[in-house]
Amino acid sequence: MFSSVQFTAVRFLQIKHLAAEDLNSAVELDRLCFGGLWTLEGYGRELGSPNSDLLGLWASETEVGESAQNLARTGAPPLQIPPTLIGLGCLWAILEEAHITILAIHPRFQGQGLGQALLWDLLNKAHYRQLERATLEVRESNLAAVSLYKKFGFKEAGRRKRYYEDTGEDALVMWRSGLEKPEFQQYLAVEKVQICDRLHQKNWHLASDIFEF
Ligand SMILES: CC(C)(COP(=O)(O)OP(=O)(O)OC[C@H]1O[C@@H](n2cnc3c(N)ncnc32)[C@H](O)[C@@H]1OP(=O)(O)O)[C@@H](O)C(=O)NCCC(=O)NCCS
Repeated sequence: MFSSVQFTAVRFLQIKHLAAEDLNSAVELDRLCFGGLWTLEGYGRELGSPNSDLLGLWASETEVGESAQNLARTGAPPLQIPPTLIGLGCLWAILEEAHITILAIHPRFQGQGLGQALLWDLLNKAHYRQLERATLEVRESNLAAVSLYKKFGFKEAGRRKRYYEDTGEDALVMWRSGLEKPEFQQYLAVEKVQICDRLHQKNWHLASDIFEF
């Protein structure tokens, strides 16, 4: 699908709300990341809810520079890989709380800073909805996710015993407060710079409307 860094191609990222035509891709990605957490109907319900932000992260690739020009001379068009859904994030606004219900990055693209970009965007949405706190449940064995949430200031506040039916594992309940405060906006601005730097290091270029305040 997407080429490696040494290939003369530019990789673009975009985060936007999912639309009806994206739902099949969302279910496919959900199956890959969670083994089938939500159904097509489940994702569809989010689209109609004013209290939900269901976000998708899309990656695309375009061949540029010398190799694209060489190909153009031979009459072949530059290679273009159209936007593909590689990440999902969802929050529910309930009273003054943001419940983060989905966060997932395609396994092939994990470890490049994309999860934190998507979490950043969810928290940004929560801030602009004037929500005060964010919360989520996570398997205690999911060290990658727990570490990511802690990085964004989430703290363990309790656990739900044997919450996950498949393994009987406990869920950690995590909270992040202070989202409505002006200093949280400053925090987001600082994080954004670091996230963007890391994405650039991984050869990701951001579409202009990614991470808008
Ligand atoms: C959790 C998940 C969304 C992280 O996405 P990602 O794109 O791989 O994460 P990033 O590259 O943005 O990493 C951000 C931070 O997450 C943590 N992290 C990510 N991968 C990690 C790993 N393998 N081990 C430990 N910490 C990890 C680190 O704190 C990392 O920051 P650092 O690189 O500065 O140390 C991704 O692993 C995933 O989709 N997992 C499957 C679905 C899932 O479990 N979702 C969470 C449900 S609650």
